[in-house]
Amino acid sequence: MNSKRDFLTIKDFTASEIAVLLDRAADFKSGRAAGKQPLRGRSIGMLFYKTSTRTRISFEVGIYQLGGQPVYIRPGESQLSRDETIADTARVFSRYLRGIVIRTFEHKIAAEFAEYASVPVINGLTDTHHPCQILADLMTIKEKKGQLKGVKIAYIGDGNNVANSLIEGAAQMAMDLTVAAPEGYEPTPDILKDTSGRITIVRDPKAAAAGADVLYTDVWISMGDNEAEAAEKQSKFAAYQINDELLSYAKPDCIVLHCLPAHRGQEITDSVIEGPRSAVFDQAENRLHTQKAVLEMLIK
Ligand code: CP
Ligand code: NVA
Repeated sequence: MNSKRDFLTIKDFTASEIAVLLDRAADFKSGRAAGKQPLRGRSIGMLFYKTSTRTRISFEVGIYQLGGQPVYIRPGESQLSRDETIADTARVFSRYLRGIVIRTFEHKIAAEFAEYASVPVINGLTDTHHPCQILADLMTIKEKKGQLKGVKIAYIGDGNNVANSLIEGAAQMAMDLTVAAPEGYEPTPDILKDTSGRITIVRDPKAAAAGADVLYTDVWISMGDNEAEAAEKQSKFAAYQINDELLSYAKPDCIVLHCLPAHRGQEITDSVIEGPRSAVFDQAENRLHTQKAVLEMLIK
């Protein structure tokens, strides 16, 4: 029987598995796991329908450091562009590759890929989930705050893929998350349905930020969103900017996270992202360490 495991959403890992992954990521970061090459002789596909800086580079470097070979594939340069099906592509990939990282639009494309692949499929971002990002965020919060349980996070802005996965991660790790989003831009209702009472959705960004240990935001227009709505969104989201004033409502030792890329002057100001509370570049670095832990756990 094929016992391959996929990582499509945060819920694919239990809380104790996430704790193990974060400890292992810390070992990779500190050098305690240096020289481990569990991917030696193995090739990992990276099928990216959308652009990327962090996810692509951190996976390519991480696979190399673990002894493996990354194979980067853009659908437009493959037969997917000539209507070869997802199912056939996934089955063919599985004959060459020991794992596949996919970044795509609708989550169901990643789910279909995983259904037909006989090797692990890792979600490198879909329209509704970004689980690899959230593992790096949890690692960053643990580094800065010493623990996850009970840490108070305020996510301010669009209820998008990052917000959805953050909700799942916060619920798994018993964190206290408040999301402040404008009407009509709340996180996906189904995701909220399945989480504990520690997740609160509010309208007022100041109420969310009050007493927070962590302020988190992401872009107001995500990849694949309707660009025609950009101007309208700018005005609807104006009060949801993380700036020095909003930061003043949080705890004095609050950290600020952003998955990046940032649009300075929109969802976050230059002064906050460059300021002493910003942990965004540690957060970006932690993508590498957490993904190495995931690859080591899943790839056989
Ligand atoms: N945060 C993140 O996933 O960045 P990229 O889009 O650059 O991969
Ligand atoms: N929400 C953003 C995240 C980018 C890493 C997007 O999907 O474009």
